[in-house]
Amino acid sequence: MNDLLPTATNNITGTAALISTTVLGLLALKYNDRAIFTDRRKDIPNLPKSVPLFGVLFDQIENKNRNLDWFDDNINKLDSMTMFGSALGLPPMIMTIDPRNVNHILKDNFSNYVKGGNLVKAGRELFGHGIFVANGEQWRYQRKAASIIFNAANFRDNFSRVFIQEVNTMSKYVLDKKAASGETIDFQDIIYKFTLESFVDIGFGKNLKILTSEEKVPFSTSFDYCQHVAFERIIDPFTDLRDSIKSIFRPNELTHKDHVKVINEFAYSLIDERSEQLKQGHEYNDLLSRFMNALNEDGQPLNKSELRDTVLNFIIAGRDTTAQTLSWGLYYLLMHPRVEEKLVAEVEEYVTEEIENDPAKFYETIKKMVYAHAVFYETLRLEPVVPSNAKMALEDDILPDGTHVRKNDLVLWNPYSMGRSMKIWGLDAQDFRPERWITKEGDLKRESASKWPAFHHGPRVCLGQNLATLEGLMALTLLLKRYKFTLAPNQEIKYSVALTHPLKDGINVYVEKRYH
Ligand code: HEM
Repeated sequence: MNDLLPTATNNITGTAALISTTVLGLLALKYNDRAIFTDRRKDIPNLPKSVPLFGVLFDQIENKNRNLDWFDDNINKLDSMTMFGSALGLPPMIMTIDPRNVNHILKDNFSNYVKGGNLVKAGRELFGHGIFVANGEQWRYQRKAASIIFNAANFRDNFSRVFIQEVNTMSKYVLDKKAASGETIDFQDIIYKFTLESFVDIGFGKNLKILTSEEKVPFSTSFDYCQHVAFERIIDPFTDLRDSIKSIFRPNELTHKDHVKVINEFAYSLIDERSEQLKQGHEYNDLLSRFMNALNEDGQPLNKSELRDTVLNFIIAGRDTTAQTLSWGLYYLLMHPRVEEKLVAEVEEYVTEEIENDPAKFYETIKKMVYAHAVFYETLRLEPVVPSNAKMALEDDILPDGTHVRKNDLVLWNPYSMGRSMKIWGLDAQDFRPERWITKEGDLKRESASKWPAFHHGPRVCLGQNLATLEGLMALTLLLKRYKFTLAPNQEIKYSVALTHPLKDGINVYVEKRYH
C-alpha cells in the first residue's frame, strides 16, 4: 500500500503539469502577440516586440532608462501618430501624439478620462490623495482652494519679491564664491535649492535657509528617490521586490520606506509649525493657510494627512518642474551661443539696476521680454518637464483620428515625442530655435495647448503656469545679467526617468562674473 503512494502522487503531479502546460500553450496560442487577457486591436498599429502572454513588458523593462526615446523610436518605426501596446500587469495602452486626440482627452471629452490605474497606485506614498491624483470633488475643492493665491497682486508684490530675494541669496552665498574660486558647480542642484526655498516661502511661509548651505538637503534626496520609484513601478512590476532584496544585502542604505519617512516628517514639521503659529494668533494668507481653512469633499476641515498630501503635491509642482526647465534651458543656451548672445542682449536692454531692486517694476518688465519667453517655451518644447502622461477611460470612446478606446484603457500622450515630431513642428522640429515662438510683427506667438501640452490643457491645465514662467524668467535673466556660464568638459547630459524630467547627473558649469 505504502509503495503505491509515491506513484499515485507522481501521477497526480504529472497530470497537473500536463494540464498546466496544455492550458498555457493554448493561452500562448490565443494571445500570441499580446499580453494575456487583452483583446487584439486591429484598427491601429501595434507596438513591435510584443511577445505571447507578456506583450511588451520585457521590451519596456529593457528600455526603462530610455523610456522617452523608446516611445519616440516606436512612433517613428510605425510611422503613426497613435499606437497600441499591451503589457502584463498593465491596462491596455493607447499611445498617441496626435494633437487632435490630446485635445479630445484633456478638454473636449474631459469627463471620460480620469487619473487612475497604475499612476495612482505607483505614487501612493508620494501623492496620497493630493491634487495630482485626485478626481471629481476631491480634485475640485483642492483646485479651488489653491487658485485663490494665484492673483495678480500676489504676483506683482509678493512672488516677485521672493524670487529676487532668493536669486540674490544664491548669487551672494554660492555663485560669487564659485566665480572667485574657479570651481565648477552643478547648476541643477543649486537651482533645485532655489525653487524649493522660493516655493516653501511662497506656499508655506517658511524660510528653509538651504541656499546658504553646501549640504544636500535630505528631504530633496528622499523626494527624488520616491519619484524615481513611482515611475519605475509604472513600467516594472518588480520594483518593490528589488527594494526589499536590496534592504537585505545593503542594510545600511535607506530603503523606500525610510525615504517616505523623511518626506513625511518634512511635511508634518511645516504643518505643525504653522498650527502652533496660528494658535499664537498669527495670521497668514498663503497656500497652507488656504488649505487649513478649506473644507474637503465631505464638507470637513482637512485632517493632517490631507494637509501632508497638499504640501507634497505642491512641492513636486513648485520645485521640480521649474528647476528642471531652467537646467535644460541653460544647457540649450550653452550649446547654442547664437541664442545665448541674443538673449543676453535683451537682458541688457531691459533688466536695469533700478528694476533689479523693484519687484513690481521687474514683474511688469518681464512681460515685455519676448525673446526670454521664446527661449523658455522652446526649452519646454524639446524638454517638457512632464514628458509623458496618461489617463484612464471611464467609457468606450472614439478618438478624433478614428481610434477606438475601450473602457479602462490607459490613454497615454507624450509631450516629449510631440515636441520632436516633424509632423507637428515641421522639418526643423529637432532644432532649438526660439524664433519659432515669435510672429513677423515681433510679438510672442501662442501655440495651442493641444500641440504643445507642456502645461497640460483643459480644466486641469497647470495652475502654476504663470508663476513658473515668472520665476523661471526672473532667475534666468538675473543670472545671465550677472554671470557667464560655461559647460564643464567630460560630462554627458542625459535625462533620468522619473515622473518629471531631471538631468540624470545634473549639469556642471564654470561661473564667471560679467561685471567686476
Ligand atoms: C515650468 C514649470 C511647470 C510646468 C512645465 C508644469 C506643467 C504641469 C503639467 C503638465 C501639469 C499636469 C500634470 C497632470 O495632472 O498630469 C501640471 C499640473 C499642475 N501644476 Fe504645473 N507645471 C509647472 C510649474 C508649476 C508651478 C510652479 C506650480 C505651483 C504651484 C504648479 C502647479 C500645478 C498644479 C497645482 C497642477 C495640478 C492642476 C490640476 O490637476 O488641476 N505647476 N503642471
